[in-house]
Amino acid sequence: MIGLHSVVRGVGSYLPQKVLTNADLAHMVDTSDEWIVQRTGIRERHIAADGEFTSHLGLKAAQAALVDAGLTAADIDLIILATSTPDQTFPATAVTIQYELGITRGAAFDLQAVCSGFVFALATADAHLRMGSFKRALVIGAETFSRILDWQDRGTCVLFGDGAGAVVLEAVPEAEAQGRGLLTSHLRSDGRHRSKLFVDGGPSSTGTVGHLRMEGREVFKHAVGMITDVITDAFAATGQSADSIDWFVPHQANRRIIDASAQKLGIAPEKVVTTVQAHGNTSAASIPLALDVARRDGRIKDGDLVLLEAMGGGFTWGSALLRW
Ligand code: UT7
Repeated sequence: MIGLHSVVRGVGSYLPQKVLTNADLAHMVDTSDEWIVQRTGIRERHIAADGEFTSHLGLKAAQAALVDAGLTAADIDLIILATSTPDQTFPATAVTIQYELGITRGAAFDLQAVCSGFVFALATADAHLRMGSFKRALVIGAETFSRILDWQDRGTCVLFGDGAGAVVLEAVPEAEAQGRGLLTSHLRSDGRHRSKLFVDGGPSSTGTVGHLRMEGREVFKHAVGMITDVITDAFAATGQSADSIDWFVPHQANRRIIDASAQKLGIAPEKVVTTVQAHGNTSAASIPLALDVARRDGRIKDGDLVLLEAMGGGFTWGSALLRW
């Protein structure tokens, strides 16, 4: 069997129109712009409109990624949607997106690893593509966390936003890939931490959707160590380093976590792509949203070495290193 690389062909994203600022939130709960900016770096976030679902956001991001790739839906035979806020308990929201795109072949499924979902989905798509099972994958992160927030809980409702991002990955023979593609991925989880960030409902337990609950300080305490460990693994596996990467595109949960991780790893601040100020934490959507911003504003160029990482509920965490 010939060696295959999973090469990024295109990226796209979508944000709902409605913007909720910190000042807006200060009218809803006992908080302030100053507190939110100082503790998180977040200034505003987007919120899905009534009747606007995760599938709608994911579909628009997928369509944008296809345009960027110069491909059509007919070229896609695998869709993996990373989400913790599906339209329904089942079928998978990926199947709705597949239907809306007019695709009736291949496979589509959801993947649930909370904020690490996009990195987990990318690694999963990569494994399928390199095995030769599929030719081109849409890897989507789409979330409507606004629907599972407790809007009375100032400790969580100020942190999250809605949005979607997607990449098109293509299996390319090694000889043609010229070093491009996903170089390594490292996925981890540890269920001992499952009660530190969770939703207090579900089909099999309460029969309700539930609301997000988080021990913020506990999550914060573990985040930097877990993120840097798994990036060190990515560097060890590839021989790359903080100096050789072009862009660090971390999960966008908190500016302080991003800065502390970059500093611990020795990644120069100008290489860090940060969108948390404008998007808030969009969970599985945050990395592809940030990739799209950095691609469109000309920062990420063909051939650049891009480092991704995420950490979230479970805990789950992971890294991926790719040559664009
Ligand atoms: O995607 C991965 C999942 N999530 C994360 O990565 C989040 C990780 N955690 C964090 O980002 C931070 O822990 C937070 C931003 C959630 C909180 O920051 P912190 O510096 O850890 O604050 P804290 O939870 O220790 O709270 C400090 C104070 C408390 O008051 P007292 O007890 O000191 O009087 C809170 O009640 O800030 C208070 N507080 C607020 N004040 C104003 C909590 N939320 C708010 C708020 N506005 N929205």
